[in-house]
Amino acid sequence: MAAAAVLAAALGGGLFLIARHFLSGARRVSRSAGAGLMKGKTVIITGANCGLGRATAAELLRRHARVILACRDPGRAEEAARELRAELGLGSRREGVGELVVRELDLASLRSVRTFCQQVLQEEPRLDVLINNAGIFQCPYTKTEDGFEMQFGVNHLGHFLLTNLLLGLLKSSAPSRIVVVSSKLYKYGEINFEDLNSEISYNKSFAYSRSKLANILFTRELARRLEGKGVTVNVLHPGIVRTNLGRHIHIPLLAKPLFNLVSWAFFKTPLEGAQTSIYLASSPEVEDVSGKYFGDCEEEDLLPKAMDDLVARKLWDISEVMVGLLK
Ligand SMILES: NC(=O)c1ccc[n+]([C@@H]2O[C@H](COP(=O)([O-])OP(=O)(O)OC[C@H]3O[C@@H](n4cnc5c(N)ncnc54)[C@H](OP(=O)(O)O)[C@@H]3O)[C@@H](O)[C@H]2O)c1
Ligand SMILES: *[C@@H]1O[C@H](CO)[C@@H](O)[C@H](O)[C@H]1NC(C)=O
Repeated sequence: MAAAAVLAAALGGGLFLIARHFLSGARRVSRSAGAGLMKGKTVIITGANCGLGRATAAELLRRHARVILACRDPGRAEEAARELRAELGLGSRREGVGELVVRELDLASLRSVRTFCQQVLQEEPRLDVLINNAGIFQCPYTKTEDGFEMQFGVNHLGHFLLTNLLLGLLKSSAPSRIVVVSSKLYKYGEINFEDLNSEISYNKSFAYSRSKLANILFTRELARRLEGKGVTVNVLHPGIVRTNLGRHIHIPLLAKPLFNLVSWAFFKTPLEGAQTSIYLASSPEVEDVSGKYFGDCEEEDLLPKAMDDLVARKLWDISEVMVGLLK
């Protein structure tokens, strides 16, 4: 009797999850129009070899952009580029798709960020969209090449230097856009100026949330600085998405099937998760919008701590010193 009830519950639950999976998928992705929308435009996407970055790259290529995959591992980047070319028919079909370029960028190394930017400034006559997408989530305590706590270093500081070094090119290509990928988990973060490198204590969840709060404060401060310059900057959260982001999270072997089922049913696919990045990068609707926070292609409210302009300014000043922009 009990066994039958369990079986029935499991079957019912399974059916529910399957329905949930297909219904949510249909609702969330609309391959919006605008095939040629990005023709003649150059886009840089950091961390574009997998997950959200890769899905964003694919969709912007479909809209005819020239897309630069900025990735830390040349092998993984080339493999992603090969797959994307095959998937989109690049190379075989002359018309109808954009152009794909691979460049090395390790955000855990300021030297790598500088080398990447030098090459871009030499080779690219224009830059229309910069998407700060790469991210690392709840890794064990590690430091970047320059001695920064890894999550703060990659998610915030590396992108801070990258954006600043590309700002001139973005301005000369105006109207242009910067898109920053943050997370709802910013809510649990705080900019503790006394221990930005977590040398006093390290809490991996806190460090991730802090870096994602930094992404939002950075966006708002940069929007203020760019007022009237023809360059917009907006920040987004993608929702919960099935990607490699959880690579540092250990799930017990026995719980894996359940986790996989739940994530399959409830998490967004990378294509669904990438919709807001794609929207902010390409939609005419947000042409003049700047300094805002988005989810599911709609503007959302922020907690007061993410709108603290004094903290944002102080974080900007300290970041400039940390990455060596101020001599
Ligand atoms: N997935 C979610 O549920 C979720 C939720 C909220 C926010 N986000 C945000 O979404 C963004 C994309 O994440 P994802 O979910 O697509 O995860 P993902 O599949 O792990 O992709 C992350 C990308 O960042 C790259 N990356 C990591 N460290 C780097 C470094 N030092 N230099 C350059 N690139 C580096 C990774 O390169 P490798 O492949 O070489 O490691 C990878 O290409 C992140 O900013 C993340 O915080 C994701
Ligand atoms: C680590 O940080 C998270 C998020 O800020 C917090 O909820 C949690 O209680 C912290 N853990 C410890 C052990 O302090």
